[in-house]
Amino acid sequence: MSMADLFDGMAQGDEQLAPGAWLLRGFARDMASTLLHDVASVTAVAPFRHLVTPGGYTMSVAMTNCGRVGWTSEARGYRYAGIDPQTGQAWPALPDSFADLARRAAQAAGFPDFDPDACLINRYTPGSRLSLHQDRDENDRVAPIVSVSLGLPAVFQFGGLARTDKPARYRLEHGDVVVWGGPSRFAYHGVLPVADGYHPETGNLRINITFRKVF
Ligand code: SIN
Ligand code: FE2
Repeated sequence: MSMADLFDGMAQGDEQLAPGAWLLRGFARDMASTLLHDVASVTAVAPFRHLVTPGGYTMSVAMTNCGRVGWTSEARGYRYAGIDPQTGQAWPALPDSFADLARRAAQAAGFPDFDPDACLINRYTPGSRLSLHQDRDENDRVAPIVSVSLGLPAVFQFGGLARTDKPARYRLEHGDVVVWGGPSRFAYHGVLPVADGYHPETGNLRINITFRKVF
């Protein structure tokens, strides 16, 4: 395979984090306003909330979901549910802009036909962080994870398959997309405390939209 074949479809500036893991810099920048508008539509129906972990810790990141199923945390554990436990209603449908972006980003990273059924929306205020974890609550073990960063920048940690593997650090900016699958599907990852700042589209917030295929 030539270098040209290897990088076919990869825009300049994209960075391979590990086998099957790509940082697509600016991939969502030109549709970021649409995505944020659609985040507001989702949160009008399914508001952001601070979930409590099974260990009794209240997460600093506020979360909500759209799509067929949503990720929730309760005393009895983490799970995906079709009904929002807070509202008793189904989660809002995946906006077309979300589905389109998720599919195109997965494709650009070498994962065609990505059809997510779950979309977690994370809201970080200054100081919010997400400790190192694996995404392993999904029944589907094959589909990649697609993660979109909007608003304030953050430092993303991306490690290996063992918690003890020292993670590398990447600065994620408004419009960046990270995709991890294949041999990196169960890589440990996390977000360091978000620094205070101002972004013209989100003020002092970082918004992350993460797409997964659960079933
Ligand atoms: C996540 O791991 O669910 C979110 C990652 C991020 O906010 O960049
Ligand atoms: Fe995650």
